[in-house]
Parts: sequence; C-alpha cells; structure tokens
Amino acid sequence: MIILGIESSCDETAAAVIENGKTVLSSVVASQVAVHHKYGGVVPELASRMHIESILPVVDQAVREAGLSIDDIEGVAATKGPGLIGALLVGFSFAKAFAWARGIAFAGVNHLEGHLYSLMLNAFPPAFPFTALLASGGHTNLYYVTSYNEFELLGQTRDDAAGEAFDKVAKMLGKGYPGGAVIEKLALQGDPDSIKFPRSFLDKDGFDFSFSGLKSSVARYVKEQKNVLDEKKTADIAASFQKAVIDVLSFKLIRAALSKTCSRIALVGGVSANSFLADELSNQALKHGMNFHVPEGEFCGDNAAMIGARGYRLIKDGKLSGLEDDVFSRVKKA
Ligand code: KG4
Ligand code: ZN
Repeated sequence: MIILGIESSCDETAAAVIENGKTVLSSVVASQVAVHHKYGGVVPELASRMHIESILPVVDQAVREAGLSIDDIEGVAATKGPGLIGALLVGFSFAKAFAWARGIAFAGVNHLEGHLYSLMLNAFPPAFPFTALLASGGHTNLYYVTSYNEFELLGQTRDDAAGEAFDKVAKMLGKGYPGGAVIEKLALQGDPDSIKFPRSFLDKDGFDFSFSGLKSSVARYVKEQKNVLDEKKTADIAASFQKAVIDVLSFKLIRAALSKTCSRIALVGGVSANSFLADELSNQALKHGMNFHVPEGEFCGDNAAMIGARGYRLIKDGKLSGLEDDVFSRVKKA
C-alpha cells in the first residue's frame, strides 16, 4: 500500500511517500528555520503562512521523487496534533481534501506516535515490547510500547522539554534558534565536568522530568560571568549543561526499562540526533544487556515519513479519520 504522509505541526512542511509502512520512497522536508531564526523561536502566524506556501510544492516534489503519479497514492496520513493549530490546519486540511477528491483512505496521526514510528523505518525495528524516550522541542515523554497501537505513558516533563532547554541555553549563549545542534557542536570543545549544574531526578522512583531548575542555574551562571563569555567558557557551559541533561534522561530511561523488565530501549524525537546522548544510551544498554534503537539521522527531527508509517498502520487497522475530524494543540492531561 502506498501512503502519502504529511507533517505541518511546527516549523517544517514535510511530505513523504511510504510503501507498506516501511519503505521510504521519498521524504521531503521544507524547513522554515531561516525565517524564524531572527525571532529566536517559532512565530506561529509566520509558520502557518509558510506552510500554505510550501504544502503544494512539497507534496508535488515527494510524489515526483518517489517516481510515482498521484494516481498511485492509496491513502493519506497527516499530523492531527499536538502542535500549533494554525500550522496543523494547513497539512490536515490539505490531506482531507486530497483524500476526498481522490476517494482514498485518510488517517489523522498523533505526532508523538509518529516519532515512535520513526523506529519502524529502521532496517531492524525494535520488537515489542520496548521502552522509549521521546525527547523533542515540545515533549519529554517515557513510553512503554507493547504493540503497534499501545503506548503506555510512564512519565513526562513537568515544565520545559529537553529540546526546549537546549534551545533556551543556546539563546543565553547568544547562539540563536534552534539550539540543539549548536550546543552539541560547542560541547565538543568543552569540558563536561567543569561546571556542576544540578540534575533534577525529582522523586527517584517516578518517571517525570524537570528541566527548569537546570535552565535557571545556567542563566545564573551566565549572569555571574557578567555576560562576558570567551570561547572556552561558552564551550564548557554547553558541555556541562548537555551532560546534566543526558545524565537525567539516561538514568530515567534505563530505570523505566528495568521497572518493566524490558530488554529493549529506544530514543526518538529531535533530541535523538544528539550523538553524546545516543552514545551514552548505547553504552548503558550494553551494560544492562539491553538492545538500543534510534532512528536514522534524517528521521530524528520532524518529518513526514514517520507520519506515513504510522498512518499506514492506522489505515490497515481500519482506524480512519473523517472530514469532520479536527486538529488539536495539546494532549489532555489525565
Ligand atoms: O522533534 P523535533 O524536530 O520537533 C518537535 O516535535 O519539537 O525536535 C526539535 C528539538 C529542538 O528543541 C532542537 O533543539 C532539538 O530537537 N535538537 C537537538 C539536536 N538536534 C535537534 N537537541 C540536542 N542535540 C541535537 N543534536
Ligand atoms: Zn516532533
């Protein structure tokens, strides 16, 4: 089955063509980073407008690069939420119209489940059950995944998301948006043990996270330097901050897996592009006799291939969406 996946929840307009939920025939991502960069974060109104401009050319390019025509598309999947409402509406409405006009199946996809499905695009996807950490700009969630459709939420952040903390610290260091990749690069030159930033484990038995204390601590430290930071100091701050985040993320993921006597761990979401974090988890997995899974680099951040992969499963299982379905901005807390 050939599925067209569409993603527009934040600042990437993406389309992909996926065969049988697994083979990526094409994956196109039009990033808006250059536009939002000068504002230090995503401007929702600008994002919506840029999605409107990009959606048709991006879909057109994805179908062409797959070597197909639109007559070959048998189902459409688009991100339904969570995300920016105005941004989501562009991709979701496009997908509805496309499916209706072509008389094909349509599935609305939860963006977070999409990130988990980025693992299904690997040559060797994890078997069930596996314990996954989803770390992105908006979420830091721990899941116990027992089947294609069951994702038990074990814990989540109580304040900032891990990726958001990277972005904010990059901004404090005068490095602009988005910050994850910049911090990782700076950290290469720094000493991760030079500055003792706090690790918030909250109650050690729980699986929730908190990164606001760490963020404030970095802000205080930067202020104490009277905002004069040479290259070495900037690199030391980046490396020490990154180490603090990694210590907490890896501790909680491993503990969650152990609590479920689960021998497979996975890392997904934009922060999974961080090689220091992936290396640490890979080492920890080895130590505990677990297998470690991470998506291919191009599917770590927001993309439509993962949405197509999730959509394929929903369509196959008859979990279709209708024209009356709507987007949502956040997941309701229980
Ligand atoms: O999954 P994603 O592309 O979008 C959301 O759903 O939020 O994640 C984006 C986040 C940003 O906060 C970005 O700074 C972070 O992922 N990120 C990284 C790295 N690359 C992207 N964080 C740490 N290290 C990286 N190399
Ligand atoms: Zn995402």
